[in-house]
Amino acid sequence: MTREEALDSVKANVENANLVKHMLATEAIMHALAKRLGEDEEEWGLTGLLHDIDVELTEGDMNTHSRLGADLARELGASEAIAHAILCHNEAHGVPLEAKLDKALFCADPLTGLIIAAALVRPDKKLANLEANSVKKRFKEKSFAAGADREQIARCSEIELELDEFIELGLKAMQGIAADLGL
Ligand SMILES: [Fe+2]
Repeated sequence: MTREEALDSVKANVENANLVKHMLATEAIMHALAKRLGEDEEEWGLTGLLHDIDVELTEGDMNTHSRLGADLARELGASEAIAHAILCHNEAHGVPLEAKLDKALFCADPLTGLIIAAALVRPDKKLANLEANSVKKRFKEKSFAAGADREQIARCSEIELELDEFIELGLKAMQGIAADLGL
């Protein structure tokens, strides 16, 4: 499966443009994490890109979300490692995070929401001038973008990254695709 095929399939299954952008943002962070950690950039990027492919098909049903996504990824030809990371990013299944790839997806997923929210409260609503320090401050404000689970983001410690570095890396990765994110 090429990256283009994966993106086409995401777009075929997800109508909401913001959800597609969330997957592009997660892809960018996963790609940067793989680079930083010396892992497979292509595989980690695809994991981020595909991770919520079933989000509209499962209509918010947490018992099927990510199980169907893992199946769809397999059908597209994704590796078992990718399918497993997708499956366990939804805690409702109770499948433990095992591989580094599982752990990376789990903490990268909510970081995208925090960074997007931090950009949107700026006067220019742009990622380009958003500073990592301001995202770090927002991280500590529990009521800000409360849906971005801080404990989940902080589990970057499980892939041996300090929170500050993780936020910096995530922001830089998303800034690199700002045009695709429309931010
Ligand atoms: Fe997600």
